[in-house]
Amino acid sequence: MSGGENTDRASAKAQAGATGTADVETGHDYDGIREFDNPLPRWWLMTFYGTVIFAIGYWFYYHTAATGDSQMTTYQKEIIAAQKEEDQKLQALEAQGKGVNEEQLLALSKDAAAVARGAAVFKQNCLACHGDRGQGVVGPNLTDRYFLHGAKAKDAYQVIGNGVLDKGMPAWRTILGAAKVQDVTAFVLELRGKNLPGKPAEGVAEDEAARAKP
Ligand code: HEC
Repeated sequence: MSGGENTDRASAKAQAGATGTADVETGHDYDGIREFDNPLPRWWLMTFYGTVIFAIGYWFYYHTAATGDSQMTTYQKEIIAAQKEEDQKLQALEAQGKGVNEEQLLALSKDAAAVARGAAVFKQNCLACHGDRGQGVVGPNLTDRYFLHGAKAKDAYQVIGNGVLDKGMPAWRTILGAAKVQDVTAFVLELRGKNLPGKPAEGVAEDEAARAKP
């Protein structure tokens, strides 16, 4: 194998001549395969160190100090801005008396997508007081057909949006925005009549409520 070794040496020398660096052997020899200790090219190392320094800067800017908005924050800000815009439109419509009406709310309560969105809102915000299925805890049972604040869809929408602050029901319009209040109203309307066992009925029965509030 000495001939092979000679040609190896020769080609290594030729390479060294080409790159201007001399090959340094580590002295490790694995069944005739020798290990060289060649330094990485300077440009490569500088690029590598550069990425490390960039990563540290990036980490501090976006995560530790959180000076810059992460992708998630940017996304959330955009969503919030879009929601605000949507709410302003809805509120402007409501101010002109062109807001959601009874029929629209009832239609929404039959729209599976709206009810599903409303269910998610309910799960996040309402279940502590109204129970996981609307059966009532400190807040009334929403699955019966007895009402404290009226039996109409619009009544529910108003109560949810404006709250009953002295009784502990928060006003959700400012917290959730008009669009989510519509969705959660759709979900609440859909709960009605399920009559789940929970908090005993409060308020007046549906027909009486309709008479009281024509
Ligand atoms: C902190 C507790 C609490 C939370 C959270 C809460 N509610 Fe209520 N809610 C109440 C109470 C208490 C009442 C009864 C108010 C009264 O006695 O006039 C009520 C009443 C209502 C009513 C009127 C029921 C009727 O019989 O007329 C609806 C509808 C309702 N809540 C929906 C919701 C929805 C939807 C959410 C979530 C977005 C929610 N509530 C979150 C406590 C709460």
